Amino acid sequence: MTATQKHFEDNGQGHVFTFFDELSDTEKETLLQQASEIDLNELKGLVETLVNEPGEGNESIADALEPAAFTPLPESEGGNPSLWIEARDKGEAALRAGRVAAFTVAGGQGTRLGYDGPKGTFGVTPVLKKSLFQVFAEKILASSQIFGRPVPWFILTSIINHEETVAFLKENEYFGLHEEKVHFFSQGLMPAVDSGGKILMADKGQIALSPDGHGGALRALVRSGAVRQMEADGIDTISYFQVDNPLVRCLDPAFIGFHLMNESELSSKMVPKAYAEEKVGVFCEKEGTSLVVEYSDLPDRLAQEKDENGALRFRAGSIAIHIFDRNFVNRLGSGDDESAKLPFHLAHKKVPFIDSSGALTEPTEPNAYKFEMFVFDALPFAKNPVIIETNREDDFSPVKNATGIDSAQTSAEDQLRQFCRWAKAAGIEVATDETGLPSFSFEVSPLFGDTPGRFTQSWNALEHKPELTEGLVLV
Ligand code: UD1
Repeated sequence: MTATQKHFEDNGQGHVFTFFDELSDTEKETLLQQASEIDLNELKGLVETLVNEPGEGNESIADALEPAAFTPLPESEGGNPSLWIEARDKGEAALRAGRVAAFTVAGGQGTRLGYDGPKGTFGVTPVLKKSLFQVFAEKILASSQIFGRPVPWFILTSIINHEETVAFLKENEYFGLHEEKVHFFSQGLMPAVDSGGKILMADKGQIALSPDGHGGALRALVRSGAVRQMEADGIDTISYFQVDNPLVRCLDPAFIGFHLMNESELSSKMVPKAYAEEKVGVFCEKEGTSLVVEYSDLPDRLAQEKDENGALRFRAGSIAIHIFDRNFVNRLGSGDDESAKLPFHLAHKKVPFIDSSGALTEPTEPNAYKFEMFVFDALPFAKNPVIIETNREDDFSPVKNATGIDSAQTSAEDQLRQFCRWAKAAGIEVATDETGLPSFSFEVSPLFGDTPGRFTQSWNALEHKPELTEGLVLV
């Protein structure tokens, strides 16, 4: 019996090795490797506190919860235009100095979309159906060109999609970015357990493992050496966004500027929630500390509450766009600071498993518990957290579902509306309906323009101005 087997035996998880003797040498090695990466102490604690205990109800989360303060847009009530100009200038200077990296979390399973492949390879633009990865690459390239410094791009993958993601970017020659500026690294894994806390086996030689949540990004950034590399390259500011949102401004100078001006360790963007049930986390404050309360945890009573002006009181929706200070990532991700650890959240899911006879069971009801960390749980540990307002139509239209809300269709329409706003701002006549949507599809490459100002500049520089018609692509 190996030391790992004994360790599992002693911790009540010896069944993981039931079929060990039947496995080939390579299979044995794989299983031992998977097993050795599981922290059984941590797992035991999680089972005790999350699976066995009933857990704190939503109502106790609600105790003493207040809406978080945020910096309003210049045009919003209380907005300060000169402050935004100052922030933009500071952010541009940081981009010119090469202090900023882009960071995409793309390790998730994307189950809701029902697309077979890494979500970043999914086509989203209205005409060319460019992939999410291409859209981000071109935005990063545009910023690199404008500010004269190539911006490195870090991409978090997971065991589910790492190889495919790397191959996709390589085949497409990194969409114009320098190969050595695109870094991939895989996030950690956690085992799924049954209601008795026993680790589930996906096969005789395979533990049922799944990604440890996007909160795992912080420790993955440290373990992979990405943080060390950033330090060596003079990067102290990490611009974080999710793989599902093609509208995101990957490197927004004003946002970067607010983060730096406030010496913040973690900055975030908010949009006023569109309606009370919208599935976004909400920025809150509890006893003077900022935090995000996930939509599933916010009691309905609070989600529906209105302020004296009739607006939702808890309206600061989190669109999962953040800026991290590199040292902060190191502090949390290295695990050195015992007092700053991301908690795990529990998910009850259907996970296929083999039983003690080795037969595979495909459950029809949730049978397993998975453990995930959320990146926004870093907020309470951050010094000087900053929350700024942003325009939803310029930063957020995610592709999460196959149809309906937050689908490929709604996102493509929001991209079209943005292109039309830019066209109108450049003095081009374009007919749209009352929601700003044209009756035809066209597309603007981020390399042609990624802001109204740069769109206008490129448009004015065109010798032959094309008519905006179906299928036009401005590159
Ligand atoms: C998420 C946020 C929600 C926010 C909303 C905005 C969570 C729990 N909630 O909801 O507060 O308002 O986005 O769009 O995140 N990912 C990994 N590794 C993992 C799990 C996820 O990299 O182990 C990545 C995914 O690839 C994706 C992102 O995290 O880019 C979001 O994950 P998802 O599970 O889709 O979150 P949502 O429920 O949409």
